[in-house]
Amino acid sequence: MKNLVLFFTAGWLLFACSGGTQTEQASETPQEQEAEPAKMSEEETKLMTAGVKVYGQYCVACHQADGKGVPGAFPPLVQTEWVTGDNTRLISVVLNGLQGEITVNGETYNNVMTPHNFLSDEEVAGVLTYVRQSFGNDSEPISVEEVAEVRASSAQ
Ligand code: HEC
Repeated sequence: MKNLVLFFTAGWLLFACSGGTQTEQASETPQEQEAEPAKMSEEETKLMTAGVKVYGQYCVACHQADGKGVPGAFPPLVQTEWVTGDNTRLISVVLNGLQGEITVNGETYNNVMTPHNFLSDEEVAGVLTYVRQSFGNDSEPISVEEVAEVRASSAQ
């Protein structure tokens, strides 16, 4: 009988506690939603939406959903000097592909990435903005104009 009383008391306490947390969360959510648009511009949101799609279609097979790649075969996209570094070089990797020996985060790769110049300027800007804002990366977006410039100079 004593056990039963304890059981009910514990159950009520659990119920009361979880109820309390829910009310707190509910009152915090509207503030967070208001803060979102200020953090990400409309342009960036558009690029991110396009980028998720392109990544899932064209990059995920090699670089993986978590951006960690496959050791010895496909390099990671997490905090690499290619991803966070020079914009022109990064855009060029996607448009023109990359082959030969490279070092990424201290590991050597010697493989082939095929060109992805069939993607539109928006798609390339989108996927690179997505990569630079995902997997623990926090770098500036890549603009559509920058991609157009690199494409024009690669074509010469
Ligand atoms: C067929 C597999 C494959 C696909 C698909 C692919 N990559 Fe790669 N990627 C590679 C390989 C292999 C390398 C390294 C090439 C070398 O060894 O010279 C590489 C290198 C890179 C690098 C520079 C090194 C690094 O890891 O930071 C970036 C950035 C990159 N890829 C981004 C992308 C993006 C974005 C996409 C999708 C648009 C993509 N890749 C699609 C295989 C692929």
